[in-house]
Amino acid sequence: MPNLAINGGEKTRTKPWPKWPIYDDNDRAALLEVLESDVWGIGGKTGEMMLQEFAEFHDAKHAVAVTSGTTALETSLRAAGVGPGHEVIVPPYTFIATANSALMVGAVPIFADIDPDTYNLDPAAAEAAVTERTKAIIAVHIGGSPCNMDAFLALAEKHDLILIEDCAQAHGAEWRGTKVGAIGHLGAFSFQSSKNVTAGEGGIILTNDGDLYSRAWSIHNVGRAPDGGWYDHRILGANLRLTQFQAALIRCGLKRLPELMDRRDECGFYLQSLLKDIPGVDYAKMHNGATRNAWHLFIGKYDAEAFGGLSREQFLAAMNAEGIPISRGYNPLYQEQLFRNGIRADECPLACKLYTGSVDYTQVHCPVTERVCASEGWWLFQSMLLGEKADMDDIAAAIAKVRDNLNEL
Ligand SMILES: Cc1ncc(COP(=O)(O)O)c(C=O)c1O
Repeated sequence: MPNLAINGGEKTRTKPWPKWPIYDDNDRAALLEVLESDVWGIGGKTGEMMLQEFAEFHDAKHAVAVTSGTTALETSLRAAGVGPGHEVIVPPYTFIATANSALMVGAVPIFADIDPDTYNLDPAAAEAAVTERTKAIIAVHIGGSPCNMDAFLALAEKHDLILIEDCAQAHGAEWRGTKVGAIGHLGAFSFQSSKNVTAGEGGIILTNDGDLYSRAWSIHNVGRAPDGGWYDHRILGANLRLTQFQAALIRCGLKRLPELMDRRDECGFYLQSLLKDIPGVDYAKMHNGATRNAWHLFIGKYDAEAFGGLSREQFLAAMNAEGIPISRGYNPLYQEQLFRNGIRADECPLACKLYTGSVDYTQVHCPVTERVCASEGWWLFQSMLLGEKADMDDIAAAIAKVRDNLNEL
C-alpha cells in the first residue's frame, strides 16, 4: 500500500484552505452606501476618504488611485518623465507588469539579477546595469518582503535616478519601521483579486513629492490639474480613475489589514521555524533592514539534491497531491515570448531615434533568477497564512512525508 497521496495513499490534508477574497457585512454596507449615494464615479467622498486613509496608513503624503497596479507603475514612470531613450532597471523575478510599464512609456527595461537570499533585486547587480541612459529603477518588494531600500536610495541619489517601489505585493510592509510606498520617489500598489487588499482590480500611487503627485494626478484624470477646471486639460492624460465601489472595498480591506497582517506574521514565521527542521527546504530571507513582511507570498526554497535528486516539479506534484496548494512561481521575465520575439528590433523602443543603446533580450542571463525559477523556488499564497498554526503543521508534515517516502517516487 503506497504512503504518498500521489500514488493513491492517504492525503496529509483534506480540510479546505482559507478562502480569498474575504468580506463581511461592512463590505456589503459600504457597497450599498455607494450604490444609494448616486455617485459611482468621479467626485465621490468614498474615494477621497480612501486616498487619505491609504496614504496615512502607508506614511505617505499623497495618493492617486488608478485602474491597476500596471497603470500605477506606468503613470509613475510617466509622471517622473521616463520615456523614449531611457532605460529602466527591473528585476526579472517579478510579474510581467514591472517590465511592461517601462515598455508602455516607450522606455527600455534592463534586467538585473536578484539577491539569492531575499530574491529581491540585488543592488549591486542594479548598479552594474546603470548606463548614461538609465532614468529609473523599479525595486519590487517581492512577495511583500521589502527590498534593501538603503542601498537603492543611495544608488538613486548617486546616479540621479528615479526610484519607484513596486508595492503590488507589499501592502503594509515596512523598511526600518516606515511603511513601503513613499520611501522612494513613488510607490505603486495593486488591488487585483489576489492581492492582500483587493477590490477585484485597481491600483494606487503614493509619493511624498508634491510635483510628482500633481503630474500623476493629471495623467490619471485626462490631463486636468488638481487645481484646474473640468475642461482645462494641461498635459496628456487618460481616464485611469477608480470607481467609488472599488474605493469602498479598499477602505474595508484596509481596516481589516492590520489583523490579517498579524495572522500572516504568526503563521509565516511559525512555518519558517518548522522548515528549519527539514533538510532540503528553506525560505527566502527578509533583509535585516526590513521590519515587516506583507507575506503576499510565502516564498520557499527547495534543494533537489537533499531530496535524493527528486526534481522540484516532482516535489510540487507530490505536495499538491497531499492537499497542499503549492506552486513554482515565475519564469525569468526575459524568457517570456514578449522578450524573445515580441519586441521588434526595428521598432520603438529599441529602434527609437532617441535610444542610443542596444539590447538583445535573447542574450540576457541572470543566473540566480534562472536557478530560482528552474529548480529552487516555491510559493504558497497569502490566504494560506490566514488560518491557524495547525495549518502550517500540515504543510510541514506533507514535506516531511514526501521526504520520508522518496523510495516511492
Ligand atoms: C509585482 C507586481 N507588480 C505589478 C503587478 C500588476 O498589478 P495589476 O495586476 O493590478 O496590474 C502585480 C500583480 O498583478 C505584481 O505582482
